[in-house]
Amino acid sequence: MNLDRVRGWVAAAGRVAVLTGAGMSQESGVPTFRDAQTGLWAHFRPEELATEEGFRADPQRVWDWYAQRRAAMAQVAPNAGHVALADYGRRHPGKLTVITQNVDGLHQRAGSAGVLALHGNIFEDRWVEPPRACCSSRPPVEARPPRCAVCGNLRRPAVVWFGEMLPEAALEAAEQAAQACQLMLVVGTSGAVYPAAGLAHVASEAGARVVVLNPHPSDLDSVADEVLRGTAATLLPKLLVD
Ligand code: OAD
Repeated sequence: MNLDRVRGWVAAAGRVAVLTGAGMSQESGVPTFRDAQTGLWAHFRPEELATEEGFRADPQRVWDWYAQRRAAMAQVAPNAGHVALADYGRRHPGKLTVITQNVDGLHQRAGSAGVLALHGNIFEDRWVEPPRACCSSRPPVEARPPRCAVCGNLRRPAVVWFGEMLPEAALEAAEQAAQACQLMLVVGTSGAVYPAAGLAHVASEAGARVVVLNPHPSDLDSVADEVLRGTAATLLPKLLVD
């Protein structure tokens, strides 16, 4: 553990990119995906709940599962890690780019500006098929999921599912931030899902230092110049001090 060294890198960097995953929100009470026992994918099958095929096979089950997660996420609050990032961003305008795989909106609620949400927003939904005139001409039928009264098109959560493209503008901005930074902090992600995890490789290849903050081993430890074993809410306030 070398907090002082990394604190020095934070101070010296002109630009810092921060890539966050589910572990960032774990101490807010949001479950992660891949932790043994407590991760969602230890109990649910991602192909049933996080793909368009899964949604089409059982729209009500998928809608209800996201409705439950949405309700749970509405109850939680940003933790000391989210707050440390937001405060640091305010004290150093233009220095920090927060890139998140999380759909819970906690970075934004903590006050981070310009958050790049690569996997969408669980509090929004959209049409599963490209909307026709009928879809927008009247409010959807209140059902689970809501549907167009005329053509039956269904609303679905506005999160990115496996096999889907990431929002283009956010991904492009994230790639630019990874290219341009001198330091990337990789916080609370297993590094198993691409293209998000690839941003750490982009940063490293462009010459940035990469630091992983995670209590457990991750797939991105091998790219890291330093690995800090600890949680987001304990480490970030200690790193982002000046
Ligand atoms: P994972 O569940 O794969 O990884 C969570 C990581 O957080 C693990 O490496 C844990 O060790 C770590 N962790 C747990 N508690 C922590 C804490 N308090 N502080 C810091 N780290 C902690 O989650 P993601 O990497 O975010 O995709 O998963 C990537 C994507 O896979 C998600 O965005 C989601 C999922 O399927 C979509 O929804 C499209």
